[in-house]
This record gives sequence, structure tokens and C-alpha cells, in this order.
Amino acid sequence: MKPTILLHGGAGSMKKMGDVRAKRYRQSLRDAAALGMTMLSGGSSALDAVEASVVHMEDSGAFNAGLGSCLTAGGCIEMDAAVMDGAQRLFGGVAAVPGVANPVRLARLVAETTPHCLLAGEGAAALARQHGLVFRVDFPSQERLDEWRKKKQRLEASADNDLSSRLAAMGGVLGASEEDRVVDAEPPVDGSQEGDGSEPQQRGDVDLGHDTVGAVALDASGHVAAAVSTGGLWLKLPGRVGDSPLPGAGLWADDDVGAAVATGTGESILRALLSKEVVDRLNEGPEAATRAGIAAVEERFGVGQAGVIAIHRDGRVGFSFHTRGMGRALWRLGMEEPAAAIWPDEPWDRPVTAPSL
Ligand code: GLY
Repeated sequence: MKPTILLHGGAGSMKKMGDVRAKRYRQSLRDAAALGMTMLSGGSSALDAVEASVVHMEDSGAFNAGLGSCLTAGGCIEMDAAVMDGAQRLFGGVAAVPGVANPVRLARLVAETTPHCLLAGEGAAALARQHGLVFRVDFPSQERLDEWRKKKQRLEASADNDLSSRLAAMGGVLGASEEDRVVDAEPPVDGSQEGDGSEPQQRGDVDLGHDTVGAVALDASGHVAAAVSTGGLWLKLPGRVGDSPLPGAGLWADDDVGAAVATGTGESILRALLSKEVVDRLNEGPEAATRAGIAAVEERFGVGQAGVIAIHRDGRVGFSFHTRGMGRALWRLGMEEPAAAIWPDEPWDRPVTAPSL
């Protein structure tokens, strides 16, 4: 069995992601996969590997998780995260937790040190304090606060009184809004307008419109695991919890079959029980299973809602999304370096080896 890690940096509209930013985002995905593979190749468990990769993405600030989390309507950070180990169906999640640097570590503590599966809010934060987890003093970052102010102004200026359509109209949900589809019909060609990264931001460059980070892995002992972490939706109501910390919705892992992690609009994903749906279909092949999962979401809730990645217990991987983009990275033991991609139909940018069967 070749240890393998597959991760994503969120499905979404990737609205006006410039080439420089896309390059950094891609490198962050690669670095997260490299960290997971370092652990797997050193004999660590799949659970250790997915946790380490997600911690890296939480710390990077490039994703809607940890440092990069989006803000609630009140301008606060409330994060959701979860881990699941396929060997024993060990599950731990945290919901609407403030301040803690790495909610995924806290989710693992819930699984391993409490009799519970899911802790929320201040109770979860208290567990983090009890175990000496780091709390960020730089939460929320100035960049996120500036973004929050702009989004809030747009929301307040909107004539539409329905919360869902108001959020959709200003990009507060993750699916491609009508504006995204028209304005960003073509993905940028990576590297075509490369700069040194010091140029001023392009119009809208800050609004990446992508969601959640997640990872699935297979270790040398044949165990699978999944981990997920998110800041949720921009301008969500305080206390709102999405799909990510809910078993079967945001993630699922079962050594008998494989593991999956979802990303996108939680209100749709959790009603589709997307990750469980995909794992239940994994013996049809991970590519077919992930496509079927997204098709089921689309049939019920429309386009631009979600993405999902999955790993079969035999090491085959699959992913699918119907948003404009979904950053993803793969490293299987035997590959020289991690492969990454963002856009639909974009091939992996490094050679990918087959799983040994
Ligand atoms: N998928 C993350 C959320 O909706 O919160």
C-alpha cells in the first residue's frame, strides 16, 4: 500500500484570483501536502498526516480556515473543524469556536480526551485552554477586517431583503453568483501576468470566494482518515454551524471503504450528507463516486454549491466540484513532489504515479 495524501483548499468562485495570488495559493497547497507526506513516509498515521496538513493550511492565512477565516455578520471569527479516523470511526468536531489558532487540533482533542464527539463555542474554547492550545491575538487580521467592512457595506446597501439572495448577490456564499459567471468566464492562465507579488491588489483580488480546507489520507497500515477546518460563510449569523463538523456531511472515514471531505455551502452539503454519500459509493471508483455526489447536490440545490475529495482504501483518489475552482494537491509515496491544480479539467501539474494494488 502506497501512503497517499489528497487535500483541497476550498471550492468556490475564486473570484478574480490574480495570477500572483493563484501561484501562492498553489504553493500553499503543495506545502500542506508535503507536510502530510513527511509524516506518512515517517510511519505516522493517516490521522496524524491529515491533521498536520490542515494545521498548515489554518496557519497560512491563504485559506478560509484558521488565520484566514472569514467573519460573521458581527465581525467575529467562529470556526468549525473535525477529524475522523477510519480505523475505529473515532470522530471529534468543534463548532463556532472563537480564537483558537488550530481548530483541527481541538477537534482531535475532543475525539481523544472527552467522552463526546462535538463541542461548541465557549465550551470548546475552554477545552483548548485546558490543553494549552494557542489562541491568536491577531484575530481577525486587518486584511479580513477590511474585507468584512466592504462586504457589510455592500450587504447593507442591497435592496433585497431576503438574506440568502442578499448574501449570494455580494459573494457571501461560495457558489458562483451570476456576476462571477459573467465577469470571470475564463480562468486566468497561470503565470501569464506574473509579477513579483508587490504590485497593488487588483480590483476584487481580496475576494477569493473559496471555502474550507480538508484532507484525506491512506497510511502504510491501510488506515484512512479525514480532517476539515473552516471559517464558514462570510457574514453568517452568529452561532451558525455549517457542514464541516458534522459527520457524514463535512467528512466521513471508514477503513472498509475509504474517506471523503466536502467543501462549499454547508446548508446544501449537510442536507445532501455529501461525504457519506460519496464514501458509500466509493467501490464504484472514487472519480465516479465524487461525480455522483456533486450531481446529487446539484440536482437538489442547483449549481455552484460544493466540491468533494475522496480516497479509496486501495489508494485510488477522486475529486469533483461544480464551482469555478477548487484548489487541490496530491502526493503519493513514490512521486518526486506534490502535484496541484485549481481549475476544472486542469491536469495535475506534476507527474502522478498509480497506487499499488
Ligand atoms: N463548508 C463550510 C461551511 O459551509 O461552513
